Amino acid sequence: MATVMTGQRVVVTGGAGFIGVHSVEALLAAGAEVLVIDDLRHASYRPLPGAARLEAADVAEPAARNAITSWRPTAILHLAAQGGVNRSWREPAADAHINVLGTVNVLAASIAAGCRRVVVASSGGALYGASPRLPSPEDEPAQPRSPYGTAKLSIEHYLSHFTRAGSLDALALRYGNVYGPGQDGTGEAGVVAISSRRLLDGRAPVVRGDGTQTRDFTYVGDVVAANMLGLASSVTGALNIGTGRETAIIDLVRTLCELAGFHGEPDREPLPPGEVARSALDNSLAADRLGWAPAVSLEDGLARTLESFRAPTP
Ligand SMILES: NC(=O)c1ccc[n+]([C@@H]2O[C@H](COP(=O)([O-])OP(=O)(O)OC[C@H]3O[C@@H](n4cnc5c(N)ncnc54)[C@H](O)[C@@H]3O)[C@@H](O)[C@H]2O)c1
Repeated sequence: MATVMTGQRVVVTGGAGFIGVHSVEALLAAGAEVLVIDDLRHASYRPLPGAARLEAADVAEPAARNAITSWRPTAILHLAAQGGVNRSWREPAADAHINVLGTVNVLAASIAAGCRRVVVASSGGALYGASPRLPSPEDEPAQPRSPYGTAKLSIEHYLSHFTRAGSLDALALRYGNVYGPGQDGTGEAGVVAISSRRLLDGRAPVVRGDGTQTRDFTYVGDVVAANMLGLASSVTGALNIGTGRETAIIDLVRTLCELAGFHGEPDREPLPPGEVARSALDNSLAADRLGWAPAVSLEDGLARTLESFRAPTP
């Protein structure tokens, strides 16, 4: 059943980004008022709905804090982040500035605004590292293998701290590898979007290493459904939002090649530092606490995504 959010005032940081725009669309459709805080440094090509207000501000700056305290939201969905794992290795201080300090600034503003409900994007793929238990449950010790994953772990500690202190009811959603229409296919992160763009340009996709590394590919519509359930609930702590299924990058890329009618071999690149060998997220706790389950199969999600890239304003 669709979540109803009539009367809710929801701030979505990073609301102009890939997962953000889909989340804003769903919140507006559910009857919520939405204020997006996003400095547009990595906005999606998918347009932000006109019914959402936009405050063009950096989440680490006082302007974002002022926007939150003066608008007085009933809930915050915090998505704004530096999302590139490779970039976090090159620029760990910039990564921590946005991902850690930006989050703490948003949490402090939420407390100052009297808004208890905060849902924050974390990353199952970046947190568990070389987990021996697959699919990894939430109680698997976090062993991040990148500055990006380390920042997400720090964020989760802040969420627990403010929840224990009684200031917030905060929930971290540990997404798998999210893919779908609206994702940037021109950067260095997002293998589905990047491969789709290359294939539709008639170029071979690129695989890093031998491509046997696995990821838990999760369709954006399913992630948005989890965001909505998370915002409407009072569940705290951390929940995995993934399919529980491991897919090797090479298999994923071959499926996309088939869908695009490309018969060549992928190009190869060396593996970047810290690359996680295997990743899949146990989603049974999210099913139990939120009643969430993924609804879109990988095959269907990839077909929808590739189709959306043929017409870039889905
Ligand atoms: N896409 C994935 O596979 C994935 C997986 C796990 C977790 N996540 C997390 O989900 C969240 C959303 O990811 P996404 O894929 O939509 O990323 P995205 O890059 O498409 O969107 C992020 C948005 O945040 C904005 N932003 C970045 N820095 C900002 C700042 N300092 N101030 C204000 N706005 C800023 C960008 O302009 C962009 O619109 C992020 O927290 C990311 O770490 C994503």
